[in-house]
Amino acid sequence: MTRARNEISYGDYLQLDRILSAQAPLSGEHDELLFIIIHQASELWMRLSIHELSAARDHIARDDLGPAFKMIARVARIQAQLIQSWDVLSTLTPSDYSTIRAALGSSSGFQSFQYRELEFLMGLKSETSLALHSEDPGTHARLAAALSAPSLYDESLRLLARRGFEIAPAVLARDLTQAYAPDPSVEAAWLAVYRDPHRYWDLYELAEKLVDLEYRFQQWRFAHMKTVERIIGFKRGTGGTAGVAYLGAVLSRGFFPELIALRTSL
Ligand code: HEM
Repeated sequence: MTRARNEISYGDYLQLDRILSAQAPLSGEHDELLFIIIHQASELWMRLSIHELSAARDHIARDDLGPAFKMIARVARIQAQLIQSWDVLSTLTPSDYSTIRAALGSSSGFQSFQYRELEFLMGLKSETSLALHSEDPGTHARLAAALSAPSLYDESLRLLARRGFEIAPAVLARDLTQAYAPDPSVEAAWLAVYRDPHRYWDLYELAEKLVDLEYRFQQWRFAHMKTVERIIGFKRGTGGTAGVAYLGAVLSRGFFPELIALRTSL
């Protein structure tokens, strides 16, 4: 019998039976539940971040910055939650982790397709990350679509052009599947915005919101690296990279290069 809409229960609405039965520890060890839940909670927050940032990108494309600002501000709060979650995970000691490590096999956050989608959406495009998912057609198709779609940064640069800034045509017509290459015309445009914030207030606010996103993303990466260091030292990762050395190298991959560069010229 179908229930009337207003009779739906808390558990049914949230599908708690599915969510709370989706933890399947393999090792039988006490600490594995924390390990699973912290990853699942992070994936849920990433899901919401993708939802918010893709809508924010679409609002920017329609010159509708107010709602985009609100959505980006929400993602900044989500990022604060994600950064805070490393504190919970750091209660997992090296000894605790060693009891579950064997059960993890070669699974790694490295394979998180939502994390790659988030990177693509913000502006960090990489065909190599896509190739990692070639054996899963559904995920591959989803990521391929994100790779070829304009990022938050692409739409921000198109907005600068619509506002009369001289953005190099090669930037506006770039192959969206490729990594973004910084361009002097973009830095000059952002510099003009920062030199006269009152004249370009909404663009200035957009720029600072993007810088805030990147700053928090980097804080998450850094805290991940330091948490990994205190748990596994300099062992290799389950995903096959050098581990901490790889996570340190990733910190050099920024999202909005000209927004950082302009600060030196200002
Ligand atoms: C004991 C806990 C953890 C350890 C030891 C760990 C270790 C690592 C290592 C060594 C890598 C590099 C790839 C590899 O070789 O595996 C990696 C990548 C990654 N991990 Fe973790 N991790 C932990 C927890 C988490 C959590 C809670 C998340 C949240 C979703 C996460 C998300 C990721 C992501 C997204 C990457 C890819 C980063 C990139 O390629 O830029 N990790 N992790």
